[in-house]
Amino acid sequence: MAGNKPSAKLEKQPGTIPAPVVSSPAPARGRCLLRRTVLVGIAAIATFYYVGSLVCQINREINAQQGLWLAKAFGGHSQKGFKHKAAPFGKVAEEIFLAVPNPASALATSRQYATAPHLAGSEGDYKTATDFLALLQSELGISASSPLPVFPAGSSESRGATLSITSSSPSKPSAWIDVYYPVMNTPLDRSLEILDEDGNAVWAANLEEQADETDSDAGKYADAVPTFHGLSRGGEAAGKLVYANYGRKQDYDALVASGVELNGTIVITRYGGIFRGLKVKGAQDLGAVACLIYSDPRDDGTVTQENGYEAYPNGPARNPTSVQRGSTQFLSIYPGDPTTPGYPSYENSTRTEGTNIPTIPSLPISWANAKVLLDEIEEGGGNRTISLVNHVDDRVIPIWNTMGVIPGYIKDEVVVIGNHRDVAHCIRAAWVLGATDPSSGTASIHEVIRGLGVLLKQGWKPLRTILIASWDAEEYGLIGSTEWGEDFADWIDEHVVAYVNLDSSVSGSSFYSAASPSLSHFMRSAAETIAHPTKPGLTLWDATKDKGPLYGNHIDAEALSVYEEEQAQMAADDLGVNVLGSGSDYTVFLQRIGVASTNNGFKSTLSDPVYHYHSVFDSERWQELYADPGFLRHVAIARFLGLQTLRLADSIVLPLNTTHYSVQLDAYLDKVEQLRSSMALDVDFSSLRESISSLRAASVALDNEKSEAESELRHLIRRIARRKFVRDHIRKAWCKLRKIFRKPCKHRKHEAGEEYGHRGNEEHARPRAGHAHPASPARTIEGRTVKPRVGRWAGMLKEQREREHGRDSADKHVRGQKCHIEAHDGKDKELREAFVRAVKRVRAANKKLVAFERGFIHPDGIRDREWYRHLGVAPGKWLGYGATTLPALTESITFDANATMAKYEAGRLKVLFDKLAEEIQV
Ligand SMILES: *[C@@H]1O[C@H](CO)[C@@H](O)[C@H](O)[C@H]1NC(C)=O
Ligand SMILES: *[C@@H]1O[C@H](CO)[C@@H](O)[C@H](O)[C@H]1NC(C)=O
Ligand SMILES: *[C@@H]1O[C@H](CO)[C@@H](O)[C@H](O)[C@H]1NC(C)=O
Ligand SMILES: *[C@@H]1O[C@H](CO)[C@@H](O)[C@H](O)[C@H]1NC(C)=O
Ligand SMILES: *[C@@H]1O[C@H](CO)[C@@H](O)[C@H](O)[C@H]1NC(C)=O
Repeated sequence: MAGNKPSAKLEKQPGTIPAPVVSSPAPARGRCLLRRTVLVGIAAIATFYYVGSLVCQINREINAQQGLWLAKAFGGHSQKGFKHKAAPFGKVAEEIFLAVPNPASALATSRQYATAPHLAGSEGDYKTATDFLALLQSELGISASSPLPVFPAGSSESRGATLSITSSSPSKPSAWIDVYYPVMNTPLDRSLEILDEDGNAVWAANLEEQADETDSDAGKYADAVPTFHGLSRGGEAAGKLVYANYGRKQDYDALVASGVELNGTIVITRYGGIFRGLKVKGAQDLGAVACLIYSDPRDDGTVTQENGYEAYPNGPARNPTSVQRGSTQFLSIYPGDPTTPGYPSYENSTRTEGTNIPTIPSLPISWANAKVLLDEIEEGGGNRTISLVNHVDDRVIPIWNTMGVIPGYIKDEVVVIGNHRDVAHCIRAAWVLGATDPSSGTASIHEVIRGLGVLLKQGWKPLRTILIASWDAEEYGLIGSTEWGEDFADWIDEHVVAYVNLDSSVSGSSFYSAASPSLSHFMRSAAETIAHPTKPGLTLWDATKDKGPLYGNHIDAEALSVYEEEQAQMAADDLGVNVLGSGSDYTVFLQRIGVASTNNGFKSTLSDPVYHYHSVFDSERWQELYADPGFLRHVAIARFLGLQTLRLADSIVLPLNTTHYSVQLDAYLDKVEQLRSSMALDVDFSSLRESISSLRAASVALDNEKSEAESELRHLIRRIARRKFVRDHIRKAWCKLRKIFRKPCKHRKHEAGEEYGHRGNEEHARPRAGHAHPASPARTIEGRTVKPRVGRWAGMLKEQREREHGRDSADKHVRGQKCHIEAHDGKDKELREAFVRAVKRVRAANKKLVAFERGFIHPDGIRDREWYRHLGVAPGKWLGYGATTLPALTESITFDANATMAKYEAGRLKVLFDKLAEEIQV
């Protein structure tokens, strides 16, 4: 811009002698002018360039320091452990994390866990708990202690380990093991026979699975874990055999309607449709004396021998001797230790007679055995009886939950991530080898922990505290998670903002995600961020449409309709995220305490290699050959889980969409109205409908508030950071100038103190032992050298807070700060106050967001199963895995067909929703 001026001016100079073009100097005045103009031009360009690059640099630094600024915002004076100004945060942290999980590592973990069942007794399970503890210690930089931190539940150490997460503001990660003492059973002996009219056995079932060397692990351990039902009733029974299809409510209703007498019989049902314990409950309620449950190849979709597929281990079809073990707890009544409903099972807890376990014995059996029995019924052998023995040993057995904490800046908000570990244990759960259930989940969790470890080593610290839980005894009925949840219900209620669950990560080709509706958008967008495990250019979310490749001509129509019904019970919303029912560890968080939760994984479809659930054939070989060759699905799930954790922990405003939730409530009520019409009940829901719409209005207002609160805070952070940087640069320049004149910069000393923040935090600013921090305090991020330092804002905040609390700090450093701050102007004060207000505003919005899910909790719970207190969603009374929305209201219609009750339930919901709308009002 300035470039043309000199020549233009030159020509205008009057009375000058034309000079040789090159060598002759311009006349004095002209020369001077020219030089000045050129200098001004250069200076202008330089300044322009300098300012431009400064702005760029400032922006870059502010972006790189998001974490620091948010730490200051939410962590206040307790920024212990914040070591690097440019520690990874936000997108940068996500990218670092996502690069960590890898298939080789996941495969190694899977092989470690899934290739040998730990033998009877409790040692094997204890070992998996301490292995997990060691993993947390090594990856999260926690020093190993001796003796091991293994605390009996209820002891002051155990209580303190969890409660101190929020009460004492720990600065470093920690890990420990809580021991609970539930009543569980272990198998003794079993038999199953057909008796002739004289009581002689004419056939005795071989109850073991038959495996050979083709799958060497399965071959070795086929009879290592007896085929029995966890929490089944021990005993003996004999009676005539009655076939009850899937053992669903409608199946039993149909039998009763057609006049079949079940009293005194042994019922045989096939797996599928509902949770196995409820099949036994249905038989028990009708007077049956025992129950058998078998795996029917008809339920394997197109992957059957009939369609030409060979049976495992020679092919992908069902091994006919495979047996599905598993718990027969009445999951929809209550989960957890049967003898301590609603309270934790400490060693000396008072115990009651469990009402969520069967009073009749049961056995799981193979298709090979079932065929003999079904033929018997078909051929009219009704005169003969079946004799069944199921001896078990009921006793108190210790279980071990391994817990790990990564403290965040926001002390009182905690994100919990959990996976059950009870793995490969002969007696305890995870039936036999468990390559899928739960070792696939365990392998994915390992990758998540490794990723978080890498972030920690780079100076990352989450905004919110992250609690990692490795639950035990999930397979017996969600016992580890339920007992811990009951133990710390008040603490969870007060502090836990979300629960992220993983069970199995891979049993087939189809990706699914389930969540509280407030987390639907969050789940979907996280899944859309991650690459499809095998198809280039697609995302993990696209894998929701994936199916197995094994098709065939025959498929059982009923199995197909049951499969579709199951999908319907998971009823995805318009985003494609499913509703949470039960069957995994999120249950106590969501359905008893009201914590927004998520769950996800790859599941098997009707055209996938048959997943031998809870059988010895759920082996490492099957997993590597059929479920996830290459282990890329394991890795995708690890990435997804980690991304959920990072986003929940590090977002300023929690990514909970309450408006989406209130839109779903309308859809739930639509469903109820349909049921009402089909049952011809006279109930009016218009006032409940109005409450939902007020709730939605309140939520929309909250949406505005939360986005305004966040952008206000971000805006202030940029302003303050900019001021600080500009000031720093000016001071630096000033100091340089003084140096030239050999006058040392007086600010220097003060600045140093300011740069390194609070003296009291020195200890925490040092790299932790066991961490691979570079020895020098300077480090390189994205090619730039960054010195770790803690800025001054924390001091201002601390001061502000102390003033608020009316405390008079004697801290010399803070006094120094005050002087320094006052040296600056009222503008700083104004900004500081605005900043504190903005932080408060964000925190208030977050509180309301968390309160939303809590708002569904009713202290009286759901009728006949009061443990479940969430009136928005519960495992269906006769489903178990599947969800029923607005459960108390829906079931008053579907099961009781009682208008009085439906009115009462609609009233309860209305009161809840009105209260909730008031609570989230902005
Ligand atoms: C089954 O029959 C016995 C008598 O044989 C009777 O006492 C009992 O109440 C019946 N149970 C059911 C559920 O009908
Ligand atoms: C439970 O009771 C036993 C026997 O009275 C006692 O030895 C033990 O210390 C108690 N355990 C706890 C955790 O209180
Ligand atoms: C069952 O017993 C009845 C009479 O007790 C007899 O008539 C019938 O043939 C028997 N059925 C079979 C299949 O043995
Ligand atoms: C929240 O959910 C509603 C309803 O699905 C949707 O319209 C809105 O865009 C969502 N907001 C965010 C931030 O995802
Ligand atoms: C309907 O429910 C109400 C309230 O629980 C109860 O008093 C009444 O007896 C029930 N009516 C029928 C027909 O079961």
